[in-house]
Amino acid sequence: MSNALLEVMPEFKDIKDAGLRDKAMTVWTEAMAVGRWTFDDLRDMPFTLLIKEPGVSLVSHTRAVTRTAMNIAQVLDEAYKGKVKVNWDTLLAGALLHDVGKMFEYKREGGRFVQSENGRLLRHPVSGAAFASRFDLPPEIIHIIAAHSKEGDGLRRTIEAVIVNHADFVNFDALKE
Ligand SMILES: [Fe+2]
Repeated sequence: MSNALLEVMPEFKDIKDAGLRDKAMTVWTEAMAVGRWTFDDLRDMPFTLLIKEPGVSLVSHTRAVTRTAMNIAQVLDEAYKGKVKVNWDTLLAGALLHDVGKMFEYKREGGRFVQSENGRLLRHPVSGAAFASRFDLPPEIIHIIAAHSKEGDGLRRTIEAVIVNHADFVNFDALKE
């Protein structure tokens, strides 16, 4: 199972702390199990329901957001010579998990992905944060999931959450009609 997840999202390997990597991967695989999604479903799943036929999967989006976040962190580090402290593992785990709540926000209707009843009540930042909290992850990572979208606009985001929020929006807005 984990190997299959590493194949679709190899960026998990860039999390340095093996214990954290395992926990973050478990959140993904357990969320898939609860949502009854297979890896085939995952490949077909659009990254958003807000753009009609975005042609980009949730996996591609998650990987792009994660790589964008890694690059932002590297630029900040180089430009400001360690003045801005970004926790690499927190950033990566948060980026890889930011949309895990979509496992509960979507359902299949016929061949199409549509919003689930749960998704109407709790959007993915909330359901994802609530689900991930059950796996003993540091609160800084739950914060990134909860605060990555407009739900977090009233919060004082950590630097890692600021990076994921912007990485997510640049990847979303670039594909908006
Ligand atoms: Fe996202």
